[in-house]
Parts: sequence; C-alpha cells; structure tokens
Amino acid sequence: TKRITVALLGSGVVGTAVARELTRNAADFEARVGAPVQIVGALVRDASKDRSETGLPADVFTTDAEGLVERADIVVELMGGTEPAKSLITKALENGASVVTANKALLGEAGPELYQLAMEHGVDLSYEAAVAGAIPLIRPLRESLAGDEVTKVLGIVNGTTNFILDKMDRTGANLEDVLAEAQSLGYAEADPTADVEGHDAQAKAAILASLAFHTRVRTSDVHCEGIMGLTAEDIKAARRAGCVIKLLAIAEKVERDGADGGPGVNVRVHPVLLARSHPLATVREAFNAVFVETKLAGELMFYGRGAGGDPTASAVLGDIVHAARHRVSGSHGAGESAYANLPILPIGES
Ligand code: NAP
Ligand code: HSE
Repeated sequence: TKRITVALLGSGVVGTAVARELTRNAADFEARVGAPVQIVGALVRDASKDRSETGLPADVFTTDAEGLVERADIVVELMGGTEPAKSLITKALENGASVVTANKALLGEAGPELYQLAMEHGVDLSYEAAVAGAIPLIRPLRESLAGDEVTKVLGIVNGTTNFILDKMDRTGANLEDVLAEAQSLGYAEADPTADVEGHDAQAKAAILASLAFHTRVRTSDVHCEGIMGLTAEDIKAARRAGCVIKLLAIAEKVERDGADGGPGVNVRVHPVLLARSHPLATVREAFNAVFVETKLAGELMFYGRGAGGDPTASAVLGDIVHAARHRVSGSHGAGESAYANLPILPIGES
C-alpha cells in the first residue's frame, strides 16, 4: 500500500501532541485510513532542542521549510502567524498536497484566497482545530447544516480569556496573574495579547460567520473589544449583581435599512454581562460553548475543551484522517469548492 506522508510545520504545544499520537498509535491510524500515515519531517525554529516527547527520531526535525513542503502528501501547519505560514500553505496547495491547519489568525485574514487555491488544485484544506479547539464545529457548519439556514451563532470561542474570567470570578485574582497560568497550561497564543485583546476570538468569529452565512467575512470586518480593561473590581461588581462577565463572539444575519436594503451580517466580539442562570455563565476554565440558531433545526449547542495541546490535537488528527482517506481513495477534497466563490454580504448594524 502507498504510505501517506505528512509534513508537520511546527512542533510546539499542538504539534507535539499530534506527533505523539501519530507515532504511538501508528497501527490504529493505518487501520482507519487504509494506508500507513508517516511524519516525514517536522519544521521548527530550533532543531537542536529535545523533542523526545513527540516520539519522532531527532533527524526528522528540520529548519528547511521549502524542502519539507515539497515531499509530503499532507502538510499540517501548526506554527501560527501569518508568514511564513501563508507562503508555505500556498506552496503546499500548488504542489497538490492536502493542507490541515489550526491557524485562525491566517484564515481570518486570507481564508478566501486559500480556499480558492485548494479548489483550483482539487485538494482538501481542513481547519477544524482553528475554532473552539476539540469541539466539532467547522464540519457541522460547513456540511451538516449546509441545507438549513443559520440565523445566529453566539458563544465563547477563546479558552484563555474564559479561563481568566472564570478564575478572576472564583478567586478574586488579577488578570495578569491568571494570564500567566493560562500561558503555562498551553492555552494562550504565542503572543497572548491576541487572546486578551479579543483578536483571536475576532478571527474565529470571522471564520464562523463565513461558514454560517455562506459569505466572506474577514477578521477586519468584525467589531472587537477584548478584556484588557476589566479589573478585579469589575468582576466583583458583576458577582454582587448576580452576574458573570464573558467574552462572547456574536454573528447574526440582519436586515439593513437604506438605499439597497437586503440582508447583511453583523459580527462582533466583546465582553457581555450574563446572569448566573444563563447557560454560557456556567462555562468554566478553558472550555468553549457555541449556540447555533437555524430556521429548521432550531437551537443547537456545542460544548467542549476550546484550547490546549491534546484537545486541539484531537481536531487536527481528525482532519489528517479525513485528508488521508481522500488521498487513499483518490478523491481529494471537494469541501472547499462551495466556499471559494461566495458572494459577500454587506456588514450591517445590529
Ligand atoms: P507554539 O507552542 O508556539 O508552537 C509553534 C511551533 O512552530 C514551534 O515548534 C516553533 O518552533 C514552530 N515555529 C514557529 N514559527 C516558526 C518559523 N518561522 N519557522 C520554523 N518553525 C516555526 O504554538 P501552538 O500553541 O502549538 O499553536 C500552533 C497553532 O495552533 C497556532 O496557529 C495556534 O493559533 C493554533 N492553535 C493553538 C491552540 C492551543 O491551545 N495552543 C488551540 C487551537 C489552535 P520552536 O519549537 O523551535 O520554537
Ligand atoms: N489561544 C486560543 C484560546 C487557543 O485560548 O482559545 C485555541 O484556539
């Protein structure tokens, strides 16, 4: 049987968990895919660091990005940031490789171009891990609900800020102290200002809104306020009022007034005061929870671990199996075609 070769771009919090599972459970993955799945190289900044936790031989680690991307069936991008991630994903798609990424910052900015490229080359571009960690949410929106009409998506999509707000609420701690703990648990972005200033949730909201409303929303279209301005006193005041503060991402279809009228979308991220009886008020630690409202299904709720190495690896590994099965059967990715040429709905007022 032909083996499926995987290039891992990044072996940090998430990449290490992905590599560990693929190496430890190689026989299970082979059985699920119908062919051996092998990591042939892992891109890092420092190839001399101890990476034994991955279970990969030391000579697999490289700093030669271009060479690595050329020799893989599936390129798994877990390095983060816009560049060089964007150029490497572009090169991989142009070479006919399938791509799996957890990089919401990149997709929120350049998703439409990359989906277009994947469609042109007939390959999978999968990103289940980019929003809400372990929670299956991308595929349900993209596939299971594609025949329904989504009217609203609302929820907690950043684990770090939920961890911080929850800890501040329960212990009275300061934001800075709890942020350090979220970083040490592997929840935060490499630059944690992306979490606390709301930009991580902003990118995720753009991705969710694009999928939910069959349109193209970029990060810059999303109104964003983070939690940096919140003090321990604000959290205590909310508590005294029987409330909690949560950072929510909200995306809804709106009717627009004015000359051209018609439907638009409103997408925003900001802290919200919620009564303690609200289901989202009970979401603890780095968990995420997302409500989806649709015309036919009514209300759906998605809940689970939204950040951290192992939960995120679960979603990445699912995408790897999905892409590998397509490559074994010779029917590489069709999923992106529906998202490559979507109309742009205007941004409306809420
Ligand atoms: P991380 O721990 O900072 O790991 C990044 C890895 O990429 C490291 O191995 C680093 O190499 C490598 N790297 C970064 N820039 C590079 C460059 N220019 N050249 C070569 N190697 C480079 O990050 P992470 O937490 O695993 O996150 C990875 C991606 O997953 C990001 O897009 C993030 O947004 C996303 N994500 C993370 C989580 C989470 O909970 N952590 C959840 C969902 C999605 P060195 O090891 O040598 O430094
Ligand atoms: N930093 C992100 C979070 C990782 O805290 O939600 C998961 O996308």
